[in-house]
Amino acid sequence: MEKILWGENFSVGVRVLDEQHKQIVTIVNTLIEMSDAKIGSEIISDTLTKMTQYAINHFSKEEEYMLKYEYPEYLMQKKRHSEFKKKTVDFCMETMAHKETAPTEIFAYLKSWWTNHILQEDMKYKTFFNERGLR
Ligand SMILES: [Fe+2]
Repeated sequence: MEKILWGENFSVGVRVLDEQHKQIVTIVNTLIEMSDAKIGSEIISDTLTKMTQYAINHFSKEEEYMLKYEYPEYLMQKKRHSEFKKKTVDFCMETMAHKETAPTEIFAYLKSWWTNHILQEDMKYKTFFNERGLR
């Protein structure tokens, strides 16, 4: 599977959120590499857990800004964040339950979810936050 290629088009215009996105993309890319290398489920599940922790931290930062600046799509974003958290926890459990490698479906989901999250969902707040002085 191709890794996520970070480019300027991934910038949501808020430095701290860009940094968090970059770290998460790096972890997702590590997972993609692992899936190609057929790494055992234990290390994959540890890496999934790490990604989930980074994601939870990131979502709370985003939601904090959204509340502070009264972002109109706050509730929709919050709902998507919770769905993601639930799904990755399920993935972690499934992966731990398997002795062999984790299913490719997990990595495909993570790749498409994060790409869509940054390029579609988060990109919508770029102008909104920038206009309110958040960069
Ligand atoms: Fe985000």
